[in-house]
Amino acid sequence: MIIEKPPESVLTTTATRGPSVTFVPPDADGVARIVIDRPDDPVNAVDGALILDLARAVAAARAAHPKGLVVMSGKTDQFMAGADFRQITTSSAADLERASREMQRVMDDLASLPFMTVAAINGPAIGGGLELALACDRRIMADAPHVRVGSTEVRLGILPAAGGTQRLPRLIGLPRALDLILSGRLLGARRALRTGVVDEIVHPAALLRAASEDALKARKAALAGGATAAERAATWLGPARAFALSQARKRVLAETKGLYPAPLRALDAVAVGLAKGMPAGLEAEARAFGELASSATARNVVALTLLGLRQKKAVFDGLGTPRPLRNAGVVGLGFMGSGIAQAAAAAGMLVRGRDRDAAAVAKGLATVRKLTTDAAKKGVFERREAARIAGRVSGGSDLTGFRHADIVVEAVFEDLALKRGVIAELEEVLRPDAVIASNTSALPIGEIARGARHPERVVGMHFFSPVHKMPLIEVIRPEGADGDAVATVVAAANAFGKTPIVVADGPGFYTTRVLSLMIAEAFVMVTEGVAIDAIDHAMTAFGWPVGPLRLADEVGLEVGAHASATVLAARGITAPPVVERLIAEGFKGKGRGGGFYLYADAKRPVNPRVYQLLGVTPRSTGEDIAERLTLTFVNEAARCLDERILRSPAEGDLGAVLGLGFPPFLGGPFRYADALGERMAASLERLAAARGPRFLPTDALRAKQPFYK
Ligand code: NAI
Repeated sequence: MIIEKPPESVLTTTATRGPSVTFVPPDADGVARIVIDRPDDPVNAVDGALILDLARAVAAARAAHPKGLVVMSGKTDQFMAGADFRQITTSSAADLERASREMQRVMDDLASLPFMTVAAINGPAIGGGLELALACDRRIMADAPHVRVGSTEVRLGILPAAGGTQRLPRLIGLPRALDLILSGRLLGARRALRTGVVDEIVHPAALLRAASEDALKARKAALAGGATAAERAATWLGPARAFALSQARKRVLAETKGLYPAPLRALDAVAVGLAKGMPAGLEAEARAFGELASSATARNVVALTLLGLRQKKAVFDGLGTPRPLRNAGVVGLGFMGSGIAQAAAAAGMLVRGRDRDAAAVAKGLATVRKLTTDAAKKGVFERREAARIAGRVSGGSDLTGFRHADIVVEAVFEDLALKRGVIAELEEVLRPDAVIASNTSALPIGEIARGARHPERVVGMHFFSPVHKMPLIEVIRPEGADGDAVATVVAAANAFGKTPIVVADGPGFYTTRVLSLMIAEAFVMVTEGVAIDAIDHAMTAFGWPVGPLRLADEVGLEVGAHASATVLAARGITAPPVVERLIAEGFKGKGRGGGFYLYADAKRPVNPRVYQLLGVTPRSTGEDIAERLTLTFVNEAARCLDERILRSPAEGDLGAVLGLGFPPFLGGPFRYADALGERMAASLERLAAARGPRFLPTDALRAKQPFYK
């Protein structure tokens, strides 16, 4: 069951909870306040009750006619979020459109107050929270790392629906507004000030005083539509505007391949509002919101987001108690290990690294510093914080300092004997309660732990590359593992800001297993003579971020072959020997002499040698490539659930989308299977009849029961 709350109409008040918004009458200086503090929600998510309470508070402010008004949050570190996810997944299009109109009306009301209004932004003002601030005359933002503003709606398959598509371009100009609305990017204080989204940034302790002063002294001003003449032209002048809009539309189409309607609808609402006036723009915004928010795309993406939020706690089900995490060790400061060390330091831990020799250590530490400065340049951390993070990582060629470690992640080469040797060495120096986490891509953890003095504290911690970008960690719980040790690894994953899933041990666990099966099927297609680029193109057009053959090149053919050999052997499947032949000829992937594609040429053409080696003439086929490959993936995911490698469809969906790029708008393999219903098993049976029993639907799919009830 995904929805915990019973569906309720968007505009009914939840009678049982206290008010979400209060009006505080003017103080001695004449400044009144509107305080947002939804009692049952830590982020002040917008639901019907909050909208009604806000409407009442604005009416009370109008009646009180103070000298100025401060709009603020009653929570310590949170301004206001966007629409309540639970209502998006349960309300009808008509209800959602009505909620948008209600919210627009309240914002209009706020914007038309005859006295100065100032938003005091003390924490994240995301989506509806930013729209509330935009309806005020001025915005002051606390200068602290957790305080961010942005319109993230399109990332959820919806659009700003409380006037955001209208007020943002009028405030900061069309080009910058489109950038924010279409990317869903969040801005820290300094960037928000530079972009013109806020008027002033102050120390958090000075926020309310500054806002009150502004409410008394500042004067209302017309919205300029941009800081420069060029921005104002793009906002107000027809031809310049048409050009800016068409450029933005082209970028959106290139990025989304037309699979995500939300950014285009947001663009339309912006365009209508600037051409025909705000009422028409608001009309377009509300209509688009109703349609988008009730669409399968938004429901799938929002459901996934909810799963991710719930997972932070649900992931601990059936595990033990996590131990405190202060000191971390990392063995192997290579490509993965340096990223892991950086993530641990960014989470506040003191990190000791170890590699084979001084040169390898120096290289690893340099990578940690580079990752940290790059992140600071992108605004992920402040510069001072970045210096502290890099300062928390040290390293050497022995295990000095490891006896303090609460957790050690090993990320040495993918070699069973080597990993066992590292564990034996660690056991000599580690405290008895320290946890050993192995970052292997496919080797069973039980195998790695065999021979250890305390195998129960060896847990799998499968990171995805590159570590700083990928949001998933697959935690592998081998049989007999200590529940507290597993919980500690899960807590570490949470501390790193990643979403953990917990899976059982086995060749390739969950993610490497489903991916290997899908890639192996792509190899079969190539041996059948299906063109390499046709396969990759079909998959990206379907919504995968990269096609399977390009991915094989990127991972490296040797590394990939090693992982898939482990998986396929266990599944009794023989992959066609295309990769072995390529490796034998020196084609080992991108940056390694080329693979399915050649990279020396800027156009990165298909490697013709692949076809010669296989003795095939490439052809584009009439067959549905994306269906055959995606269903292979879904069937194997379902098999992982049958075999209890996976604990739940939720973890299967999160793992597939966050770790492997399964198209998010389908919600993950299990939600996709539910959407296809009986057609899923039928398609697999058709494929099995035509191409062999490997396609036969697994028990869970044959049972035709929905995974989510
Ligand atoms: P890498 O080759 O970049 O790094 C391995 C590091 O381990 C090197 O710096 C090497 O000097 C060091 N090393 C080797 N033996 C050592 C020892 N006895 N003591 C200390 N250091 C030692 O390899 P990469 O890509 O970082 O992979 C590491 C592990 O992570 C492998 O098990 C791999 O399967 C796994 N992994 C890799 C992913 C990837 O995309 N590259 C993704 C997920 C897991």
